[in-house]
Amino acid sequence: MCPYTVVNSMRDAELYDASQLSRRRGEIVGNKRVLIVGNGGREHALAWKLAQSPELERLFVAPGNAGTVLWNVAIQAQDISALVEFALKEKIDLTVVGPEDPLSSGIVDAFYEAGLRIFGPTQAAAQLEGSKSFAKTIMESARIPTAKWEMFEDPEQAKNYVRTIGAPCVLKADGLAAGKGVIVAMDLESALQAVDEIMEGGFGTAGKKLVIEEFLEGQEVSLLCFSDGEMAYPMVPVQDHKRALEGDLGLNTGGMGTYSPPPIWTAEIEANVMRDLVSPTLQVMRERGTPFQGVLFLGLMLTEQGPKLLEYNVRFGDPETQVVMKRLKSDILPILWACTEGRLSETRLEWKEDVAVCVVMAAMGYPLAYTKGVPIRLPENYQDTVIFHAGTGISDGQLISTGGRVLGITAEGKTLHEAREKAYALVNQIDFPKAHFRRDIGVKGLNPYK
Ligand code: AMP
Ligand code: GLY
Repeated sequence: MCPYTVVNSMRDAELYDASQLSRRRGEIVGNKRVLIVGNGGREHALAWKLAQSPELERLFVAPGNAGTVLWNVAIQAQDISALVEFALKEKIDLTVVGPEDPLSSGIVDAFYEAGLRIFGPTQAAAQLEGSKSFAKTIMESARIPTAKWEMFEDPEQAKNYVRTIGAPCVLKADGLAAGKGVIVAMDLESALQAVDEIMEGGFGTAGKKLVIEEFLEGQEVSLLCFSDGEMAYPMVPVQDHKRALEGDLGLNTGGMGTYSPPPIWTAEIEANVMRDLVSPTLQVMRERGTPFQGVLFLGLMLTEQGPKLLEYNVRFGDPETQVVMKRLKSDILPILWACTEGRLSETRLEWKEDVAVCVVMAAMGYPLAYTKGVPIRLPENYQDTVIFHAGTGISDGQLISTGGRVLGITAEGKTLHEAREKAYALVNQIDFPKAHFRRDIGVKGLNPYK
């Protein structure tokens, strides 16, 4: 194994860049200049897929990671004015936003004001993720099945309520808290403690308001939908593994791995979810004058009483996107474009029958304090399995870790078993000292009815 260098990153990215390949062969190149905002595994997966589009003239990723080095621009995802300026200067035809923070800060509104095309919801519509109480209010108006809830601004009242409903219950900071503002309390004492932790602890303004919810039991499924404001198309269903440790133990994380499709999902469930959850949401958002354009991501709990909505996200999931992009047969560029024009119904989405698995390799310590700057070596050749980079960078020509979730090893197989074997075979070949990963990604799908 030779050290993985900037040259390898360039080569890997070039392998997929249709516009560069066509240009080199003297063939006609597409005419669309696309900018992706963000630097995670999700953004690498989007870049990998968009780069394959025959409609692409040139791709940019701001700021990107070592996996997207061929396309990187040194602008942070939160620097909205610099992104607008860049998009104007580079005549970007379409911008695609990965993370929730710039969406909640109004990146879409700023691009619209500058006359630029952008895929994602406005600040008003992004509140579906930015505020748990807003999301719950929309769920109520749209009559969407969800956990019973109450909102509190006073810790004593919150504690009294907890004493009334008892445990288990779920406590959520109202605002964005980087995926860490949710505590599932299995006994009364931890529920009471959680009230203090969220309302007086480290969540800042996100924890000023507290949502307390009924605990729902079942399997979780993530359903991401493309939406043009009028209608939506579901992507393939995904199961994420949110807990840090095997057997779904340990702390909540951004996601330690995904697979698609989960066998527990059926066409009937999908039809119900689209009819009873997705369409009413889009309708209520339209009626409020804040139509939802972008990815509407439903965090679902499949309960004995049917699917219930845990939360909305207003963007592609991470690491859901890694397996979704691996399974998407159609060109993604015309679909994103159609969403920005309210013409989604004129497009078609085709998916591979194959099963996809993504195993996240994280830094030791994640999701708490973790080590950075660890040198990583990747094998030279890994066929059709893809290594999506997340927290990676290049220092002195050497690949190093720069974040908590570092790599997403994403494989495809005819069966879940085969996809898992391929993913873990590659994980075992990666030289990433003290990497933390779960060995049971997708095991839920091997024993779906347990
Ligand atoms: P959220 O950010 O709202 O998706 O919550 C993070 C995680 O907490 C979810 O993925 C679930 O695993 C868990 N969770 C949230 N709400 C509930 C609930 N009402 N019942 C059971 N688990 C929940
Ligand atoms: N993997 C869950 C999320 O992206 O929020």
